[in-house]
Amino acid sequence: MSTPSQEMACMACEPHIPIPRANPRQMGGEDTNEKRAACRQQDERSMMMSTTQQPCFLFLAHDPYPYYQRMREQQPVVYDQDRDVWFVFRYEDAERVFTEYETFSSQAWCCEFNNVLYYTFTRMDPPQMQQYRSLVSQAFTPRAVAQLPEQITLLATQLLSRVAEAGQMDVVEDLALPLPLLVMRDLLGLPPEDDARLLPWARSNAQLGDGPFPPEMRSYLLDLISRPQRLRPGVIQSLLEARLEGRPLTEAELLGFCGMLFATANAEMTPFLGNVVQGLLEQPGLAEELRANPDLVPGAIEELLRFYPPIPETSPRGTTRAVELSGQSIAAGQRVVPMIASANRDDTMFADPDRFDIRRTPNPHLSMSTGPHVCLGAHLARLETQVVLSVLLAHLEDLQLAPGATLVPAGMFGVKHLPITFRWHSGSPLAQVRKQPDPQVSAGSQCPLPAHRS
Ligand code: HEM
Repeated sequence: MSTPSQEMACMACEPHIPIPRANPRQMGGEDTNEKRAACRQQDERSMMMSTTQQPCFLFLAHDPYPYYQRMREQQPVVYDQDRDVWFVFRYEDAERVFTEYETFSSQAWCCEFNNVLYYTFTRMDPPQMQQYRSLVSQAFTPRAVAQLPEQITLLATQLLSRVAEAGQMDVVEDLALPLPLLVMRDLLGLPPEDDARLLPWARSNAQLGDGPFPPEMRSYLLDLISRPQRLRPGVIQSLLEARLEGRPLTEAELLGFCGMLFATANAEMTPFLGNVVQGLLEQPGLAEELRANPDLVPGAIEELLRFYPPIPETSPRGTTRAVELSGQSIAAGQRVVPMIASANRDDTMFADPDRFDIRRTPNPHLSMSTGPHVCLGAHLARLETQVVLSVLLAHLEDLQLAPGATLVPAGMFGVKHLPITFRWHSGSPLAQVRKQPDPQVSAGSQCPLPAHRS
């Protein structure tokens, strides 16, 4: 078991199987039908050995769901030699790993974040985890988040107005990357004049860039913590004033909180917002149905989360004792990874799981985990998605993938760019806005990021 100072939380830099979710029909790069057919054959032969021993796993994984189904049926708990982890494919087992924290502990070695080992609650178990998490959880409650729709709508509208004249946009660069960044910048209380500096770091967190999380982020945060007069009111200021068992937070703890919150804003939100638009492009009649009946939007968001999860798996848990999952014995001291994307298609939990159905109820998908580490930003993520859907549906119609677009996977289940074309919805005020300056937004929400042009 690691010592506290060796632990850190960073879902963005966990080693994951690189499984892009993008539609194979639209994939670019070196993917070919011949390669994928060969991979499938190879996969059939080697499936019983390991998940990643197959050299072609990446190609196969462009549509990983048939593979997940076979694993759920034939080998629901499998040891992967390359990553030294047990992958868990069934819903019931994944739920156990998330909730039985005394057996599946989060207190395990994680990863190096920015060459510094951070200390945050993602790598802790209750009750210590709750003690830390409660220092920031107030900012993410439904009540706190309920203050934000107007501000997020203004930001989203402003970002959209910048692509108005072009009549096309790259959903990732123009909306899905900057929006969560600006929302988190305001929540944390980062100075708006730093936006252009934050953008490449957000891009790294969303795994859009080529390099790892940049080390400059650490010195930037350290500088802010030591010169707090630059901060706006927000989570970082509260953390500077917070007391843990009567003492102020250490530098490592402050960096852990700030770095993790900044990272999570884009690590999951950016690919998911891209996936939401892919859902609008792929699911026949979805945009029209939601435009005609906005009451269906919350259910649609849950189904989008189930069907298009931005991350297929979570960080590993460590077994504290010998345990059995689906008949497979796992010794103490092993690392176990629940496969969210597979659990979300488990037919013991979801009727007709490969059908996209926005009226599915209940919809207990695991895309935001469950148990003590359930996503802290879940309400915020749902709100941001709701705003993006509302703004897109209110202003744009006839969304199409741009002709000749090649979708390149980013991170796990996302794409690097999502170029689309559209027409202005009749009566959209944005068609007028493009001739005028940016719509009014509050001082904290101004968006001085350079507009992206593909
Ligand atoms: C669609 C968007 C999102 C998805 C799918 C998602 C998914 C997840 C998942 C699966 C976990 C659990 C990881 C685990 O159990 O190991 C998690 C944890 C977390 N998420 Fe999210 N997330 C999203 C958006 C956000 C946002 C916008 C924030 C911003 C605050 C955020 C903050 C966090 C934090 C701080 C944790 C750690 C919670 C803990 O360990 O106690 N997430 N998220």
